[in-house]
This record gives sequence, structure tokens and C-alpha cells, in this order.
Amino acid sequence: MNESSLQPIIFEDGLLRLLDQRALPGALHWIACRSAEQTATAITDMVVRGAPAIGIAAAYGLALTVWSGEDRDSAERRLRLSRPTAVNLGASLDRLRGLPTDALPTAARALHAEDLQINLALGAAGAPLLSGGVLTVCNTGALATGGHGTALGVVRSARAAGQAVHVYALETRPYLQGARLTAFECAQDGIPHTLLTDGMAGALMASGRVQQVIVGCDRVAANGDTANKIGTYGLAVLARAHGLPFYVAMPTSTLDRACPSGEAIPIEARPDDELRRIGGQLICPAHSPVWNPSFDRTPAGLITAWVTERGVWRLPFPSDPAA
Ligand code: MRU
Repeated sequence: MNESSLQPIIFEDGLLRLLDQRALPGALHWIACRSAEQTATAITDMVVRGAPAIGIAAAYGLALTVWSGEDRDSAERRLRLSRPTAVNLGASLDRLRGLPTDALPTAARALHAEDLQINLALGAAGAPLLSGGVLTVCNTGALATGGHGTALGVVRSARAAGQAVHVYALETRPYLQGARLTAFECAQDGIPHTLLTDGMAGALMASGRVQQVIVGCDRVAANGDTANKIGTYGLAVLARAHGLPFYVAMPTSTLDRACPSGEAIPIEARPDDELRRIGGQLICPAHSPVWNPSFDRTPAGLITAWVTERGVWRLPFPSDPAA
């Protein structure tokens, strides 16, 4: 199985502790949230990120209303708005709807535990697909989920099965989730890896070092169009040009059947200064105009398969949610 020992979300009665992912890998710093409001701010500010982890944190944030005395409906609304693209956020709040308030902590814990099981199943389903060099973007590991990870979880499962795989991690400008988080997780768990800048992906493919690309997702439309970290679309185009398979690791909780196509997926615009600065240091004229979408949409036609906890899916997706 080869789960990671990293546990970035810890919930106790009345207290949610989030490993501050903005400080990694330099420092292990924890942020304490005692209300839904504080949790929503932590999600918006990227203390916790990654679609499944955002969903788990939001569920715990709502559970905090048991102790904080916040109005449950406005707390839920506030959490829903904390980040727009990942469908998991709204989906996990939907799952808590209608439960008595005092049942929320147990339900949120169950959701968290379930996510780990989903990722382990997803990893087992996808592992046989991988061999050799595996190019990925952003962070899709234990830090982004309830444990193990999705795309990086497939890598973990492949290694646990004895397969020789080597991760090529794109640094993922502007937030550097690849450099700061994926390389950190790989280093912690002894996963062979190489870091490269986003602009090196095409040259890497041309060099023959990678045999496939696998990425995570924030929302997959019913037709398979997939929103994921900015840069994913370019990778898919490059993979097609080089004849490489392009896989999306998709917990079925990230499939939004109500969303017909990628055009309907909301794309989050992040603050300009995330792009203008690295580590607080200005890297361009202070007022240069910036375009900083956090995600892009990859058309389904560029995707070879979606790896889910229920097996490897190709289009059309099974219509029975339990399939
Ligand atoms: O902005 P982030 O760091 O939340 O973006 C994360 C991603 O794009 C991941 O690929 C996606 O959420 C899947 S995480 C298992």
C-alpha cells in the first residue's frame, strides 16, 4: 500500500489543525482553526490545498460550528465560496446537509477516512499503467488529500508493487506546489524524483525520459473535460504531440455530472502578487499587469484515461454512479 506518513489535517473536538503548506518545505508550521470562518480563510489562503483536502477541511470547518456557535447556514455558504474550482468542496458539504449538527464531527471524520480508502483503491487501479518516467504537475500526494494521494498515490502504489518508476515533478509556477510539496513528499518517502521548471516539459518528453503523464483534477465535466492546475492543458497537448499516454487520476468525487463540459467549469483567478513575487521577492516591475488563472481546462479528447477508485475509465463514463 505504501501510504505516506504525512498527515496535514488533524481534527480534535473544537479544533482543526492544518499543516501550513505555504511554509513547506522550510518549516513545519501548524495553523489552528476554531471556526468555519477561520477554516474558510485558511482554504482561500492556501494553507490547505488540493481538491480532496479542501473538501475534507471544509467538512471539518462546518463541524466546528458545534463549538463555535456560528450560524450553520452562513458557515456553509462561507465555506462554499472559499475556492471555486474544486468540486469536492461543495460535494463534501452536500454530503453533510440534513445531518443533525451534533453528528457533523463524526460525519466529517468518516469523510476523511473514506478519502484515504478511495486513494488506496485508485492507486491500485492505476499502478499497472505506469512504467519508467512519470511526468506530473502540482501536488497530488498526501498533502492534497486524506492520505496516499491521487496521481502521486498511483506512483506510491506502483512502487509498493515493485515497479520501477521515476517522478518528474514540474515546479508549478506560480505557487510552486511541485517544487515545494511534491519534491518534499518524494524526498520524505524515498521516491526517485527529478524537479524541472514548467517550461522544460516539452524538452523532457523529446529526450525520451518520460513514458507517460499523470495529473490530478479539480473538476471533471460529464463529457470528460478536466480542470486541473494551470499548465495541465499544455502538458496534454505536448503528450499528444509526443505520442505519450496522458492519464487523469480522478476520485469519482471529482466528477461533476451536473457540469456538461469544461466551458461550464469556473476557473479561479488568484492574486496578481502570487505571480509577481517568489518567496516575497519581487521578480518584475511592481505594477506589471498579470494574468494568473489557477487552473486550466483540458479537453477530454487529449486524455487517454481517467484512473478512478472503481477502475480505469475511458469515455463514455459509466452512467451508474456505483459502476
Ligand atoms: O491550487 P491547488 O494547489 O489547490 O491545486 C491543486 C491541483 O490542481 C491538484 O492537481 C488537484 O486539486 C488534485 S489534488 C489530489
